[in-house]
Amino acid sequence: MSEAASIVGPLPRHVGIIMDGNGRWARSHGLPREEGHAKGADSVRTVVRAARKLGIQALTLFAFSSQNWDRPPEEVFHLMQLLRRYLIQERSEILDNGIRLITVGDTERLPAYVRTPLVELMTASANNDHMVLCLALSYGGREMIAKAAAAMCRAAVAGKLDPADVDPDVFGSYLESSNLLPPMDLLIRTSGEHRISNFFLWEIAYAELYFTEKLWPEFERADLEDALHDFAKRERRFGLTSDQVSTLPSRTLAPDEDGTSAASTGG
Ligand code: FPP
Repeated sequence: MSEAASIVGPLPRHVGIIMDGNGRWARSHGLPREEGHAKGADSVRTVVRAARKLGIQALTLFAFSSQNWDRPPEEVFHLMQLLRRYLIQERSEILDNGIRLITVGDTERLPAYVRTPLVELMTASANNDHMVLCLALSYGGREMIAKAAAAMCRAAVAGKLDPADVDPDVFGSYLESSNLLPPMDLLIRTSGEHRISNFFLWEIAYAELYFTEKLWPEFERADLEDALHDFAKRERRFGLTSDQVSTLPSRTLAPDEDGTSAASTGG
């Protein structure tokens, strides 16, 4: 049952979260970094549950970046173990709540002990339609753009794509995220840092950005609601004037697929 009524105003269709601050949380509690990640996994559980209850269509969590492979091997190992545990422990809740699990990123690099439960849960949840939970794993925004560019070049060389036809929509359609997720309307970053850190670079062109001082392990449902309240108050103009936007059905809508209008349904 959706509890979106608790938010006054439109909900973002797709929320992305850069979950930052696990290490600082651990240090501030005199604990090893691993404990910060473990507490961070509890926040993942809380926020997925809250997003589902609030009626968010899609939630993407930046769980492991392409660059995180360069962290100390024991930290990488611990994060992989946490991921595996999450996939096993949350399986029934994800399925019972009609959540579809998908991923973006180079998941081929993940160890088999993560990939196996991941693929199994993605397959088991493939027909669920209450919310999409997207885990960005071994993910880099630049890497995804380069991959899309390479695929487009291959299509051109094969005579399947005329370079003269390439525009933002055509390019966007080559991105892994293109058919999987609605436009990212809101991007949240925790821990007081004001960076995108190679997250959804292309897809956040018109996302509203929300930064909070809260460290990820402290992030709760109320913090997500604060971000949603803030989003609901914003005027999104997509390059138009305020007067133009005020005549549109909703102030908070992302442009249509063709990028020419802001009059799509806002969820
Ligand atoms: C950033 O904090 C966080 C990460 C690199 C990993 C995020 C992982 C989790 C929240 C837990 C596992 C995920 C799932 C989906 C179960 P940081 O380590 O960079 O923190 P710091 O900047 O304070 O050092």
